[in-house]
Amino acid sequence: MKSLVELIEWKRDGNRHTEEEIERIVHAFTQGEMPDYQMSAWLMAAFLRGLDADETVWLTRAMRDSGTVVDLSGVGMPVADKHSTGGVGDKTTLVLGPLVASCGVAVAKMSGRGLGHTGGTLDKLESIPGFRVEMSVESFVEQVKRVGIAVIAQSPDICPADKKMYALRDVTGTVPSIPLIVGSIISKKAAGGASAIVLDVKTGSGAFMKTEDEARALARELQRVGHALGLKIQCVVSDMDQPLGRTVGNALEVCEAIRTLKGEGPEDLQELCLELGARMLRLAGAAASNAEGRAALERSLHEGRALETFVRWVEAQGGDPRIVEEPSLLPAAEFSTVLTADRDGFVGGFDAEGVGRAALALGAGRHRKEDAIDPGAGVVLAVKRGDRVVRGDALATAHASTLDRLEAGAERLRASISIADEPPAPRPLFHEV
Ligand code: URA
Repeated sequence: MKSLVELIEWKRDGNRHTEEEIERIVHAFTQGEMPDYQMSAWLMAAFLRGLDADETVWLTRAMRDSGTVVDLSGVGMPVADKHSTGGVGDKTTLVLGPLVASCGVAVAKMSGRGLGHTGGTLDKLESIPGFRVEMSVESFVEQVKRVGIAVIAQSPDICPADKKMYALRDVTGTVPSIPLIVGSIISKKAAGGASAIVLDVKTGSGAFMKTEDEARALARELQRVGHALGLKIQCVVSDMDQPLGRTVGNALEVCEAIRTLKGEGPEDLQELCLELGARMLRLAGAAASNAEGRAALERSLHEGRALETFVRWVEAQGGDPRIVEEPSLLPAAEFSTVLTADRDGFVGGFDAEGVGRAALALGAGRHRKEDAIDPGAGVVLAVKRGDRVVRGDALATAHASTLDRLEAGAERLRASISIADEPPAPRPLFHEV
């Protein structure tokens, strides 16, 4: 049997591991028998030499089994989950969760906190006064059964291997490796207990995968490995070349999600939620086709059932449901400034990551894990890609709690919106389904 050092050397030299070797690496690291420096070396070897199709499946399975695997079989209805590789203004879960849950498929989701430009789903939810995201696995399962939806912070008992590995990858330059990303995402989804999973892989200037080819390759691997672990899974590659919807920032995004649940949201956000939701219903067996699923979701939106489910969900997690009718109960930043077009033309495009960084400078995200988020800070866009503008038209409003942050964020925001003489070529919302 190879020692841990020999296993690192084996991968360093480009060899293929056995299933037992991969299980041993993951187990030894989770148990604290493999120190961080050895895992860092193995991760870099795996990053440079790659893991083949089988090794990726073995890694994912070993990571899933490093902790608790949630049992949702007692919920009494099909349970679905979704995951997005992340983007700017991505508040999809806030709309999609209650929308799908209102159509007879429970939604059980464990989510991460945002690091980088803007808050994650948990930060958005926590901008609702009273909303709690910390919950035991037992209470999580109970809420899914009772309310049909629960979204909570990733439990430390689920995939502890991923938690430790991701922390090392983040500081050793080993994040952008397809096998390691697939292992990280699919192990968490598989341990979360839902059997029907839709993954939204983003591509474009605001995404982790900047090019369509990279996003497609990741989507195919996610799907393949998900199937190998027995999950019903579908991946969609969607556009993140401009922020999704018109808001970036936690409470601002909650407000936009509520408007969308009232049928008054931005078209791109609504469309994405309907298309992803249709797939969740179909995969979970509640619709015979995507078209049937979409029709059910549209009815629920129209009849106000998705909004009612949102209210019950917020109440169940301790949040103040009055925000639905009184958005002024959500935190708001004291200062704001409107950015205007300096010439006539068309909105040529956004540097979506730049908009995210502007939101971060305004206070909506965190530089370090321990930083506090300003829930009211962020950006509201007055325009989308391709819109015609004349000099002096509003492009966006920046919101911040201090004038220094407002100035820093507004400058970044202005640099992230380009005005062109000609309208840009349209980009589809979906690149591959
Ligand atoms: N998101 C994850 O959860 N893991 C990764 O490795 C990358 C993105």
